[in-house]
Amino acid sequence: MKESYIKPFVSRYFSLSLLLSIPFLLFLSYKAATTSSAVESLPSSAVPGLKIRPGYTSYDSYIQRQLNKTLDPKLRKIWTTRDWNRKIHVFSAFFNDLKKKNLLFNSSKALCIGARMGQEVEALKRVGVSDSIGIDLVPSPPLVMKGDFHHQPFDDETFDFEFSNVFDHALYPDKFAEEIQRTLKPGGICVLHVALSRRSDKYSANDLFSVEPLKKLFKRAGLVHVRTVDGFGLDTEVVFRKNN
Ligand SMILES: *[C@@H]1O[C@H](CO)[C@@H](O)[C@H](O)[C@H]1NC(C)=O
Ligand SMILES: *[C@@H]1O[C@H](CO)[C@@H](O)[C@H](O)[C@H]1NC(C)=O
Repeated sequence: MKESYIKPFVSRYFSLSLLLSIPFLLFLSYKAATTSSAVESLPSSAVPGLKIRPGYTSYDSYIQRQLNKTLDPKLRKIWTTRDWNRKIHVFSAFFNDLKKKNLLFNSSKALCIGARMGQEVEALKRVGVSDSIGIDLVPSPPLVMKGDFHHQPFDDETFDFEFSNVFDHALYPDKFAEEIQRTLKPGGICVLHVALSRRSDKYSANDLFSVEPLKKLFKRAGLVHVRTVDGFGLDTEVVFRKNN
């Protein structure tokens, strides 16, 4: 009598544990399958030379932190006063140089990504690129409209030229690069200023250690040049041309 009572009890638990282990076994076989194939599908955090900073629990907490920098009253004051003319002066020189290299023209439709108060946009206008606009999480009219670089508020093939010095703020660098390649016209130019030899600020979402990860991310574009610049803590200019 005791026997017959225990037996179903044991077998019931045995089947239950077998049932519970199925998802785990499926997971293991999935892991085995995905790690052995398709390097292409690895998240950008797994691209050598590019590290996503840990600690963001959600996209919303990431955006909140970025807004914290953009809305910091001390920084905003600096950006609009002491920084304003100095930045416009330096960026005008960068843009004039790109014009000399025939990568930027007065007639280019240009976008600045992560444009803050619009210093770069103003510099573009001063060197003669009148059709220029910026995007940032916080708008600063009339130079900068509201926009998240992970989801640019523009149609495909809108711009001839895109400039950004905020790559380090991208939580999803693959999305950042995809959006630029989507909104550039065929043959359009993307200019990035990045920090390779020093770490950027506490608001950065990734750390880049070489140009190689960028070459992987800009798969629909060709590398035009890489050169050293002195751009407010950013030391390297990387230029891509979107394929025709
Ligand atoms: C934003 O800044 C305030 C004041 O410096 C700080 O208390 C808060 O924790 C910050 N929030 C985030 C999400 O970083
Ligand atoms: C481009 O614009 C600048 C500034 O307005 C002007 O000096 C220059 O002559 C223009 N270049 C061409 C090729 O039209």
